[in-house]
Amino acid sequence: MHPLILAPSILACDFGRLHEEVRRAQSAGADWLHLDVMDGHFVDNISFGSAFVEAARKASSIPLDVHLMVSRPDHYFPRYLPAASHITVHVESDHSVGDTLAEIRAAGVGVGLSLKPGTPFEALEPHLDQGDLVLVMTVEPGFGGQPFMPDMLEKVEAAARARARRGLNYRIQVDGGINGKTGAMAASKGADTLVVGTYAFNAPDMAEALRGLRGEG
Ligand code: DX5
Ligand code: ZN
Repeated sequence: MHPLILAPSILACDFGRLHEEVRRAQSAGADWLHLDVMDGHFVDNISFGSAFVEAARKASSIPLDVHLMVSRPDHYFPRYLPAASHITVHVESDHSVGDTLAEIRAAGVGVGLSLKPGTPFEALEPHLDQGDLVLVMTVEPGFGGQPFMPDMLEKVEAAARARARRGLNYRIQVDGGINGKTGAMAASKGADTLVVGTYAFNAPDMAEALRGLRGEG
């Protein structure tokens, strides 16, 4: 069992006040910050790139969890190595998944592996022993503020079962539509790492929202 990690997603913050927003999340109790890199090709949105992640890095010392929603993560991941604690890539992207994961690990950064809602959990099976983190998308990637997809909880359970069966130790992360209720649902199925975008940044009091997610309401 891993202790619960809460990772507010910077996608939901005020980009014009990035430094203040990063510090606000950190002082509200964030364990990590989640950074959604989108290339307008793998998903239907463009967010930000490595310069922005570097700027977030300068604002605080909190671990940065970089989620690459790009078609060629093998080409782009090196640009995120200096700032990232973890780099997560998608199994659906156009790359040799095992090679990319091995290269990220060899660079000394945590390795994450993710899948879209339409992709069966089995697609991750060949690579599970290479991951520090399995990210189950609970919305279609591309945008914050979408409703949680409860059907994805089956994949959270599958990730927990595979971890036990194979004696592995990866974290199980959920991303998309997480709030007090859906976060508790995901945690009850085995999720130990919660990405929270709009629910954290739009809360009247982010610290209170994060305490609620820890069950300390
Ligand atoms: C969606 C991103 C998420 C997003 C979550 O493609 O991967 O990280 O920021 O935002 P909320 O919590 O608002 O669904
Ligand atoms: Zn994300």
